[in-house]
Amino acid sequence: MKRAPHGPQDHLFGIRTMGRMKPDVLGSYSELQAQYGDAVSFVTGPYRLFIFYHPDQVREVLVTHAKSFIRMPHVIKVFAQWNGNSVLIAEGDDWIRQRRLVQAAFHPRRMENYGRTIVREARRLTDSWRTTIESDGHIDVDVDEAMTSLTLSIICRTMFDSEVDDVAGEIGEAVAVLSEVAFAEMQSPVNWPLWWPSSSNRRKRCALKTLDDVVWRFVRERRADGRDHGDLLSMLLSAVDEESGGGKLTDRQVRDEAMTLMLAGHDTTAAAFDWLWYNLAAHPAVAQRCHDEVDAAVGQRDPELADVDRLPFLVATIKETLRLFPPAIGVFLRQATSDVEIGGYTVPKGQLVTLSSYVTQRDERWFPDAEHFDPERFLPPREEQIPAAAYFPFGAGPRVCIGQGFAMVEMTLVAAAVLQTRRVTTIPGEPAPEPHVTMAMRPKRPLKLRWR
Ligand code: HEM
Repeated sequence: MKRAPHGPQDHLFGIRTMGRMKPDVLGSYSELQAQYGDAVSFVTGPYRLFIFYHPDQVREVLVTHAKSFIRMPHVIKVFAQWNGNSVLIAEGDDWIRQRRLVQAAFHPRRMENYGRTIVREARRLTDSWRTTIESDGHIDVDVDEAMTSLTLSIICRTMFDSEVDDVAGEIGEAVAVLSEVAFAEMQSPVNWPLWWPSSSNRRKRCALKTLDDVVWRFVRERRADGRDHGDLLSMLLSAVDEESGGGKLTDRQVRDEAMTLMLAGHDTTAAAFDWLWYNLAAHPAVAQRCHDEVDAAVGQRDPELADVDRLPFLVATIKETLRLFPPAIGVFLRQATSDVEIGGYTVPKGQLVTLSSYVTQRDERWFPDAEHFDPERFLPPREEQIPAAAYFPFGAGPRVCIGQGFAMVEMTLVAAAVLQTRRVTTIPGEPAPEPHVTMAMRPKRPLKLRWR
């Protein structure tokens, strides 16, 4: 077994290294791989941080040795401030129980219904652009704002049979605040308690209250209503908690799972849509092929779940977008719970491991001509040549994204429904978007695109 992999030497306990990485997270991860190879390690505070880039190592961390890791408690504590003890936060037997419970919301038999809701919401969005388009032939849209509100509506209608039109803007702002604050808190070894009267804490408390008000409203209204709406909320409210001897979940437990699904279920997907629309606008030939495929497979009727399999090029375009612009640029930081061998190196118990889908998915060895946007690589026979775990925008292994299937269906059906009636282009003079990393990787400046 080899000693720890090489990495930057820092006699200031990693303060200098982390300081250099902070302003350019994406560039730093790429540079570390270029300088030290597929395995890098360096000291940061009381820990040694290992970064692994090779697909075999990724598989070992996320799949083969998944049981030897937990999500790093410091990071999880940051997320627990608004997710409580949901499936995203829990470990061990609690996590297994919660995962099973929430998984039921994504049962294939429910997806057909979700598909109808998704298309209805996409139509509502494009209809709202109609008046402007009719008067001057096009409309310039702030895509990030539109996609945040669309994905929020979709998740709230499918999972909670509720609408949030009146507070969508406030929720979007609250999530943006929490993303910034959480990203900073994750990188800082010590954080002030929530009661500490700092300006960052004031913004955080306000954002938490906005989100809490919305989710508690869902829970209370449904408890009072008592009817089974056949959605996640009804399932959670009627679920039996084996742990508490067969009693129902408490309102607090229901609130925690609902909060997680509302946030994890819209933020990353909105970011993915930003990059998808930008890529279609910037690659007219790819967009034309998507239009042609939708015309041939769906025509003018509403797209439905079964159409996803009839739209392989559109699905490949979405996968290619998630390759170059993974909304989650990696996975949660892991901590080893025992000594574990990864890529021939020993990661000692208590030390930290991270992965970067952003860097691995742009590696020429697994994706030739990697910087080039080329959806064909996700069509047979080329797709089979991609090594397992070289592509992991949704993670992998037992803690793979629970909403992966939902997100892919959502993106395909929304894209199909929008492309049926609208063409997207860039706006002359608007610069290409630059990625900005907080919790999800979104465009740094508001992304404006033109729809005809
Ligand atoms: C393009 C959209 C999405 C992306 C890129 C994405 C990405 C990810 C990734 C990378 C993880 C794993 C993190 C890790 O292993 O540390 C994850 C976990 C998770 N995601 Fe997603 N996600 C997306 C959409 C969704 C949706 C639509 C939902 C819910 C409706 C969702 C709910 C969750 C939950 C609850 C977890 C935690 C699962 C667990 O720990 O067992 N995500 N997601």
